[in-house]
Amino acid sequence: MNEQINRRNFLATAGTAALAATTTSALAAESPGLNVIKILGVSCSPRKGMTTAKAVQAALDAAKAVDARIQTELIDLGGLNIAPWSPQPPDDDMKTILPKFRDPALGGLIIGTPCYFRSLSGLAKCFLERLAPLREPQMVLAGKPFGVVTVGAFRHGGQELAIEQVQAILLCFGMIPVGGHAPAFQGATLLSANDSIAQDDLGLKTAAALGKHVGEVALRLAGRS
Ligand SMILES: Cc1cc2nc3c(=O)[nH]c(=O)nc-3n(C[C@H](O)[C@H](O)[C@H](O)COP(=O)(O)O)c2cc1C
Repeated sequence: MNEQINRRNFLATAGTAALAATTTSALAAESPGLNVIKILGVSCSPRKGMTTAKAVQAALDAAKAVDARIQTELIDLGGLNIAPWSPQPPDDDMKTILPKFRDPALGGLIIGTPCYFRSLSGLAKCFLERLAPLREPQMVLAGKPFGVVTVGAFRHGGQELAIEQVQAILLCFGMIPVGGHAPAFQGATLLSANDSIAQDDLGLKTAAALGKHVGEVALRLAGRS
């Protein structure tokens, strides 16, 4: 009986590995002429290098593993000065960040926010408002995929609500929301315990599934443009 179960497990694992290899080579065949595809991750916690940044990095690592042509960069907004949108563009750290989003190689985004009062952080809202110059005169981000990563300190702390709020904003930019790969149904939802996500296996799986899916979609879409 045990032997049967082991054999079944082995066949299931081998099947999954074969499927993953087929998917990767099919994706590569779809986009043979591509060079670099950049996926930018943005951590919108005021606390640099903390759980949100770590969760976004986990998603970026999975995106990078999809294909050798995918490059990733984490932009950690922790400690930076980013004011909300105002009629007179504020003179702050956004001026060094915004050009990265105009890079022609940009293939997708992973936005991370801590869950604050069942919503996105104020920093995330400021940052997203300040992307406004990317909407006019040209919709620079239109047609590019994005995924959202959230971390909360409570199991049902509003992570999915925060994801929906970020998705609602980026839909205004013509971006394509990505989720849908179990267990990251809407996006990546993580639980922080004592300022750590290291023990949250399921949450880390959602970050990896989301990053992988964003990488796959970015590769497919970049190959067709
Ligand atoms: C002002 C504030 C509000 C918060 N509200 C929530 C909340 O509604 N739900 C939740 O799960 N966690 C909430 N938290 C906890 C944070 O989401 C959690 O600690 C998260 O891991 C912080 O991200 P960071 O480590 O990247 O800073 C809140 C924290 C702060 C500071």
